[in-house]
Amino acid sequence: MAIAIMTSGGDSAGMNPAIRYFVEHVISYRLAPYLIYDGLEGLIDNRIKRVNLSHVNGIIHLGGTIIGSSRSKRFFEYRYREEAYNNLKKLGIDKIIVLGGDGSFRAMDIFYNEFGVKFIGIPATIDNDIYGTEYCLGVDTALNIIRSSIDSIRDTASSFKRAFVIETMGRGSGYLALVSAITSGAEICVIPEMPYDLESKKKEIKRDVNSGKRYILAVVAEGTKKTQEIYNFLKDDIKMDTRVTILGHVQRGGNPTVFDRLMASNFIKHSIERILQKDCKGEVVVYKKSSIEFITIDDIASHQYKISDELIGLYKIDYCRDCEEINSISS
Ligand code: F6P
Repeated sequence: MAIAIMTSGGDSAGMNPAIRYFVEHVISYRLAPYLIYDGLEGLIDNRIKRVNLSHVNGIIHLGGTIIGSSRSKRFFEYRYREEAYNNLKKLGIDKIIVLGGDGSFRAMDIFYNEFGVKFIGIPATIDNDIYGTEYCLGVDTALNIIRSSIDSIRDTASSFKRAFVIETMGRGSGYLALVSAITSGAEICVIPEMPYDLESKKKEIKRDVNSGKRYILAVVAEGTKKTQEIYNFLKDDIKMDTRVTILGHVQRGGNPTVFDRLMASNFIKHSIERILQKDCKGEVVVYKKSSIEFITIDDIASHQYKISDELIGLYKIDYCRDCEEINSISS
């Protein structure tokens, strides 16, 4: 019996550790591990290789994915899916572990319904925006890269009494920006999921600057397209010397953190156990309240991912400036 692994869509840190753990686990079951190169494109073009442990040595610390990834348009067409199936059939592969996002999982679901190839999807995207899971592989590394970048920006911002607008990735999701704003103490956070009110921020920030604050940080999610607006606000309304840093693809690279490596191992172990069960068809492994569960593609497709109110609540502290003034007078 043979099982293959593939990485699809945007790469994320944690994919390489997952590939390594996959090969180890599959071999421990006395099964044949295969790597599919370049995602769905490689599946169509038969870039599929049987491997052993020597092929995955020395990759646990690497970012990205050594087997490559793609966003395939061809896989939308039946004739290419049929080619992909014929490739798998020749090699005796009837099970695939797919690391990627919900688009890749939906594609695999169609593939399962047409050809019966079982799969488990492992949520892997820095956007952390897949319904049903609190965590997607790679988001911890991306957050740490953002944290370290903002720490560096703060150093130079405070030296020059400057404001910085830092734009994070995340597509339509504000998760990266929100967590980064909370953990970096940013004065402004703009994400698609949360309203913001520059008028009230203006008073707050002016007060901060007047009482000696040497820098202002604004974290803006790319999906809002508000980077320019926040820049104009800080420059024209707050009257601070302002710079913009678009973090870009730097957020997608870097060697995986301990948490992402551990979760890669956790997801792979459970996914292989599950895919070997008779009643498994196509499911997605998720991480909820510190435990592993499996959900169906229908469940994912019929729900919209939403940032938790609890997380938003961590940013929106109902801060009472007057109380602060009273406290400082009385101390
Ligand atoms: O989905 C991951 C992601 O990095 C998004 O945050 C970003 O908008 C997009 O991919 C960038 O895509 P590409 O690498 O194709 O430019």
